[in-house]
Amino acid sequence: MPRPVLAPINAADKRIVNGKADINQLAPFKYPWAWEFFLKANRNHWTPLEIGMAQDVHDYQHKLSAAERHVFGNVLAYLTTSDILAMRNIGLAVMEKMSAPELQIYQARQVYEEALHTWTYQHCIESLGLDQQEIYNRYRVVPEIHGKIALANRRLEKVLRSDFDLENRANLHEFALSYFFFAVIFEGCWFYNGFTPVFALQRRGLMKGAAEQLQYIMRDEVLHCAFGIRVIRELLREEGMELDPQALRELWDEAEAAERAYASYILREPILGYNAELHVQQFRFIANRRARQVGVEEPFPGAENVLPWLDEQANLRKEKNFFETRVTEYQTGGALTWD
Ligand SMILES: [Fe+2]
Ligand SMILES: [Fe+2]
Repeated sequence: MPRPVLAPINAADKRIVNGKADINQLAPFKYPWAWEFFLKANRNHWTPLEIGMAQDVHDYQHKLSAAERHVFGNVLAYLTTSDILAMRNIGLAVMEKMSAPELQIYQARQVYEEALHTWTYQHCIESLGLDQQEIYNRYRVVPEIHGKIALANRRLEKVLRSDFDLENRANLHEFALSYFFFAVIFEGCWFYNGFTPVFALQRRGLMKGAAEQLQYIMRDEVLHCAFGIRVIRELLREEGMELDPQALRELWDEAEAAERAYASYILREPILGYNAELHVQQFRFIANRRARQVGVEEPFPGAENVLPWLDEQANLRKEKNFFETRVTEYQTGGALTWD
């Protein structure tokens, strides 16, 4: 019997961050829920090539009004830039700071999913023949889109440095706040709300291919948000820390102001069944839901659910032929729950 080189590790020694346990050992799990997220994520699998876009090309060219084309193009422009940011945040800023492999493994899947989302938008942009130079630069030249992207970039840059020491309590709080911003606001509110204008078109039988693509993306994003919330709660508990209410208030206010400006631009003219005010009200309603999930104070007490169809619309519907064959393979439909 050879002499052991290293002593076995104790799973209880794992930590969300700042852990000292060997990170190359998956199980026994300290965070079995993280592994469950990984398994669950793998049940929502698709590629954008599997969803027909031919009718969308026709809709875009012949059926959408100018206001609807404006909304649709800007939603795509915003989302595609956002998903690159989401990928960089998880892959470059967050994953390296996690100190348990079961957390990193889900996040590795998340990085892939953000890349897949970027591919999906690119597929929509290509299918519709949109000008790539123009649409990919929109976040740089349109102030109301830039506002949201710049806010996210500022958050990301604070924690992106690999020498960002999380043993320092102020840094740890900054990291938790940044994680909160990305999981709860960026993914949990802005993405969730960001798909809505396209779902509003889908409800009227328009742009159904793109909407279906977004439904798949939204399933991923709901999991990303739920996972992030779980990590934040666990992190705060382990570290005996609370998020500063004042800092949270500023974050919500900044996020709302950016969302309001964005809505006023993309919906400068209302479209049938949807307008800027509904968009903002829905943001406030979703924000409250997310706050409750994290266990912090609701930022917008009394906000109403002005789009009661959203949660339902966002769920994948299986009646389409395409899904008939796929759902048995991937269990996309009933296996995931919302929120
Ligand atoms: Fe994404
Ligand atoms: Fe995401």
